[in-house]
Amino acid sequence: MSKQFTVWHHDQIGSTNDEARRLALEGAPHGTVVHADEQTAGRGRLSHTWFSPPGNLYLSIVLRTGQPASRSSELSFLAALAVADTVETLLPRQIRAMLKWPNDVLVNGAKIAGILLEQVDDAIIMGIGLNVLEAPSNTAYKTTTVVANAGIATVDGARDILLDRLAYHLSSWHTDGFPPIREQWLNRSYPVGAAIRANAGGQPVAGHFAGLDDDGALLLDTNQGRQRIVAGEVLPG
Ligand code: BTN
Repeated sequence: MSKQFTVWHHDQIGSTNDEARRLALEGAPHGTVVHADEQTAGRGRLSHTWFSPPGNLYLSIVLRTGQPASRSSELSFLAALAVADTVETLLPRQIRAMLKWPNDVLVNGAKIAGILLEQVDDAIIMGIGLNVLEAPSNTAYKTTTVVANAGIATVDGARDILLDRLAYHLSSWHTDGFPPIREQWLNRSYPVGAAIRANAGGQPVAGHFAGLDDDGALLLDTNQGRQRIVAGEVLPG
């Protein structure tokens, strides 16, 4: 595992993001990782709860990148790439991970992982949940696991691969900036022109995927022209 990470393991915790936040406020250094076997108060995006029984990977990383806060949103795409690499390492060769804006990782159209980025003072907490053995069945979207796709993984093995891929993409981000990350993300997402619907807080907006703006905002071509969506989600189906 990459030397830039120090892992603090818990059998059970409320939320690894909350614990990482607490450590960050105490001054925990870049690369501090909180890993738990189970969460009792796992949190997802848009105030959803995150299904967190034993058998899956739950971790949160304290990042102090030294970059301006305006670049923080780029980390969400970088995290999605690291998770997609991990999933593809664990699954049979022919199965690909697909990315859905802003940072969902899908396998065969079903969500296999979630990413939650939070700012704490000058640190970013990057929380990642990866369904290894268990997936919730009561969600509005389809879900899946590594094992359901004939993948082979221990949770700790998945964690080590993920941290290695994260170290790799962080290093490339520092050296080459966002454009190559954006390019790799686009290669694993919808083709430009695909019909999608996006929820940006109000009514869902239908349109055609027009790629990502330089800062990672979703570009959607609608009947009213091109829209730039900075927060929200692309709806399933
Ligand atoms: C999403 O809604 O897609 C994001 C889910 C993020 C879940 C992870 S699990 C580890 C970390 N701790 C949390 O409470 N949430 C994140």
